[in-house]
Amino acid sequence: MPRLLFALAGLMSATAVAFEPRADQSPGTPEQVSHGKEKFATCAGCHGEAGEGRVGMGPRLNSSSYLAIVSNDFISRTIREGRPGTNMISWASMMNDEDIAGLVAYIRSWQADDGVQLNDAPLTGTADAGQKLYMSICSRCHGRSGAGYSEAGSGTGIGRKAFLDQASDGMLRAVIAKGKDNTAMRPFDEKSPVAVANLSPDEIDSIIKYLRANAW
Ligand code: HEC
Ligand code: HEC
Repeated sequence: MPRLLFALAGLMSATAVAFEPRADQSPGTPEQVSHGKEKFATCAGCHGEAGEGRVGMGPRLNSSSYLAIVSNDFISRTIREGRPGTNMISWASMMNDEDIAGLVAYIRSWQADDGVQLNDAPLTGTADAGQKLYMSICSRCHGRSGAGYSEAGSGTGIGRKAFLDQASDGMLRAVIAKGKDNTAMRPFDEKSPVAVANLSPDEIDSIIKYLRANAW
């Protein structure tokens, strides 16, 4: 059925250009995506068959708003280095470069939103103000010490050095402001109508300062 295949290929390339990824979010080749899909069987136990996540076991990877923020490098570093202290081990000894590139391409294939331009300007705010905000708003899901699953439940370990070393200020600012669609991580943006709390850019920066000052 070459005609049908041709039509399908046309559809697929149409979806591939329906949004504008950032330069550091380049989509992989179809070969990389299918290799990654095969390898993802190892990850599915915690992250879900289609990357939908399993609360308390593995965060959702299939989140377009999240993928619009994170870079390929962030994803591959997380796979390579893992998140020491959590169930996300380092996969470097089990996955070679080709496997990791495939996994990144497969995960990237779930993005459907334009890449978000990150603001990496120096942080404003103060760690003291950040501590109050963190304790009153974020600790409920991420744990009082930021340990995540092992401490509280639904959120990941955002107080851990392993995570903070992989995440840039620009990425953290964007995730906190925009949230992670299809998860309990709602946007905290000043203007968001669905926010649990509306935070100013200064307040978001204060929280990041607090997390960085207390990373463990
Ligand atoms: C035994 C469970 C488990 C397996 C298997 C696993 N992960 Fe994870 N993964 C986690 C946990 C737990 C986290 C979050 C840890 C934290 O920061 O609190 C995570 C985080 C991640 C993240 C960062 C996303 C985010 O929102 O923080 C990526 C990317 C990722 N894993 C990819 C993979 C890939 C690819 C595989 C397969 C090679 C894999 N994981 C296998 C449990 C697992
Ligand atoms: C109602 C629960 C809830 C609250 C409140 C909450 N979060 Fe989250 N957060 C989550 C969940 C759940 C995830 C991960 C979703 C998943 O499973 O993929 C997350 C993910 C994140 C991430 C991405 C972490 C990663 O591993 O990539 C950051 C950063 C973050 N939250 C920061 C914050 C900050 C800062 C606050 C307070 C202003 C906050 N969160 C409040 C539930 C919450």
